[in-house]
Amino acid sequence: MLRMLTAGESHGPELTAILEGMPAGLPLTENDLQDDLARRQKGYGRGGRMSIEKDRARFTAGVMGSQTTGGPIALTITNRDWKNWRDRQIDPFTVPRPGHADLTGAVKYGYRDLRLSLERASARETAARVAVGGVCRRLLAEFGITIGSYVTMIGGETAELDVPSSDEVYQARFASAELSEVRCPAPAASERMRARIKRAFQSKDTLGGVFEVVMLGVPPGLGSHVHFDRKLDGILLGALGSIPSIKGVEIGPAFENAARQGTEVHDAIHRDEQGRLYRATNRAGGLEGGITTGEPIIIRAAMKPISTTINPIQSVDLATGEPAQTVYERSDHCAVPRAAVVGEALAAFVLADALLIKLGGDSLAELKARFADLRRSHIADLPMDNQPWTFGFQDEN
Ligand SMILES: Cc1cc2nc3c(=O)[nH]c(=O)nc-3n(C[C@H](O)[C@H](O)[C@H](O)COP(=O)(O)O)c2cc1C
Repeated sequence: MLRMLTAGESHGPELTAILEGMPAGLPLTENDLQDDLARRQKGYGRGGRMSIEKDRARFTAGVMGSQTTGGPIALTITNRDWKNWRDRQIDPFTVPRPGHADLTGAVKYGYRDLRLSLERASARETAARVAVGGVCRRLLAEFGITIGSYVTMIGGETAELDVPSSDEVYQARFASAELSEVRCPAPAASERMRARIKRAFQSKDTLGGVFEVVMLGVPPGLGSHVHFDRKLDGILLGALGSIPSIKGVEIGPAFENAARQGTEVHDAIHRDEQGRLYRATNRAGGLEGGITTGEPIIIRAAMKPISTTINPIQSVDLATGEPAQTVYERSDHCAVPRAAVVGEALAAFVLADALLIKLGGDSLAELKARFADLRRSHIADLPMDNQPWTFGFQDEN
């Protein structure tokens, strides 16, 4: 239902995004996107570029009178740094930096100057994704769905966090993360992570880490088990894995679950006094069979260390064929807190799409009427009719 396209180079005049498929009648202003754009720019370990940019999205289509029209939404974000690069004579860049798209992009597209790879592969593009995610988040808010994130590990410094017992505890965790310079809700771990980033910077190196994105208020029944490309778990894993530098994504504690026995892992089903089905645990991370269970969706993503390092890495100068060392250009030292905000945006995009698939409809009013019918339990009427059935098609004759 939803399609997102982005365009723009890291040091070009602006980023552009188009979001197609949003229903009409959603109240939306540029200010609604502002918070997320600012959050993507924050975080201890960020580089100098972030103090140049003051990201702000401007709608150029699809929003009239502070409401979506149902037409494609187009938006732009100015690159303030462009002014510093415009008309500048720039030497060709010929030593590929390991971990970037410098070499792979040049081999694939036949570039003689690696800057052509760099300009589009740069994570500057994620500002456009965050703006689009902000539109999706605005839609989800109409249905009581919220998304937050927090960092659980940076450079080996880990926050040991319990599994929250309620949505309120998650919300409090998001709020604490917002106050931390490294987006970590545990103050002691936050301090250790900050010190770890400082040490890495002092030794002219970079760090990666792990963050979690949590989706609350998600109704059961989004996604589907019927085909590989309809499975919401697969779609979410792919979307989060598309963020630059994200090299591992899991749903719930998937890798930990893999080391346990089935009876320790699968969330037992209970029935309360009102007859509603519920789970006391959420080790499935909110998805079973590619379909939402109604529990929070929990995604964990692993980010590799930033590829641009002050200490050089061995490479080859493609202009001469001779061994060469990478050359440092202004860069983040650790971008895990910022990547978590990008993770929220991708999750919002996927979830808004799944909701639109489930509800159909061209206007917010239509969606709302249909949402009212969505029951928050797996099975409306118990006990089920226990009719016998046969496997196979009936012969009509
Ligand atoms: C929010 C964010 C900010 C980033 N900032 C930088 C940076 O300043 N310097 C850098 O070398 N890589 C940075 N990266 C990572 C690169 O974009 C990434 O390593 C590169 O595009 C290759 O990643 P890939 O192998 O996943 O495509 C950042 C990533 C994200 C998500």
